[in-house]
Amino acid sequence: MIEALRNFYEHENANVHRGLHMLSSRATEAYENARRSVADYIGAASADEIVFTRGTTESINLVAQAWGGKFIRKGDVILLTAMEHHSNLVPWQLLAERTGARLRFVPIRDDGTLELEKLSSLLTPEVKLFAFTHISNSLGTINPVAELCRKARAVGALTLVDAAQTVGHMPLDVRELGCDFLAFSGHKMCAPTGIGVLYGRAEILDSIPPWHGGGEMIVSVALEKSTFKKAPHRFEAGTPNIAGAIGLAAAIDYIEGIGRTAIFEHDSKLTYYAADRLTELPGTRVFGPKKERGALVGFVMDAAHPHDLTTFADQYGLALRGGHHCNQPLMRRFGISGTTRASFYFYNTTEEIDRMIEILQRAVGFFS
Ligand SMILES: Cc1ncc(COP(=O)(O)O)c(C=O)c1O
Repeated sequence: MIEALRNFYEHENANVHRGLHMLSSRATEAYENARRSVADYIGAASADEIVFTRGTTESINLVAQAWGGKFIRKGDVILLTAMEHHSNLVPWQLLAERTGARLRFVPIRDDGTLELEKLSSLLTPEVKLFAFTHISNSLGTINPVAELCRKARAVGALTLVDAAQTVGHMPLDVRELGCDFLAFSGHKMCAPTGIGVLYGRAEILDSIPPWHGGGEMIVSVALEKSTFKKAPHRFEAGTPNIAGAIGLAAAIDYIEGIGRTAIFEHDSKLTYYAADRLTELPGTRVFGPKKERGALVGFVMDAAHPHDLTTFADQYGLALRGGHHCNQPLMRRFGISGTTRASFYFYNTTEEIDRMIEILQRAVGFFS
């Protein structure tokens, strides 16, 4: 990925879609090839269904503002779950405040899975959009996306999947899932920061007005009025993150070289192993389902606050994350202010988890 960025800046660096010189056509070709790579990677029907954004957060805000601004009215319902990251919660709160729409939430069981038996009473015809995470960034729960999308469609609701925790970690195909929108960030899958994607089904993207105005997204501009390009360019006003998109395509090649199935199997083994070993530690509570979970494990220890634990671990070169993980309502649901979280990827090993347990054992002694 770093080599791809370097190559871009050394040999192709120019703005896209505007210059007629060689560097600009090279940059445009690389940028649009990256869009095709992303489309193939997630099983989209066409590259036109891929909008480059700054990340998951911006992708969801795009839908909330542009789609929500056009289609959501007072009394409509946006259905979410009680495990959403703030980036799939706050944009809908803002939309609801602006339009008079209402929010509803699918509750969570103690084991960290969704209370799906409540879905039939929540997913009523007033629901215009069901937006939910594929994998919870705090619990590791993998939600049954295809089933949720099918049920939403049956009442005429669109679906938005927050795939921030998924795309680099397991195989994913938007047409198999049957979702209408899907959002993710490059930096969680070996790509640079500041690049992300909004996938939108073609006919839906085409029905949405622009959200940011400026250069690149127009067909013609007069002083009083403008006309706009089709999707996806209509949603990419101004100079895009060209290098970021090219870096994302290089990250995709890299991940595909390892294989997403192999990554998922490796990550799962590490996650189950870590969750098991954590229970050896006194006064430790591990969150989320026992099996079928994403590559992370959140826990609390009686010995110390998550911030103190992560600071302690950092002294041994162990990078944990402590806090609410942008999941404040979820933390409240479990009666805690935060957790300590270890997350795993293809480069981690069981020896590293053994080392983590040793360090946490030391922390128990230190804090008590
Ligand atoms: C499930 C989930 N959704 C959304 C986000 C937000 O991603 P970003 O900050 O890259 O926009 C994250 C990031 O931690 C996440 O884990």
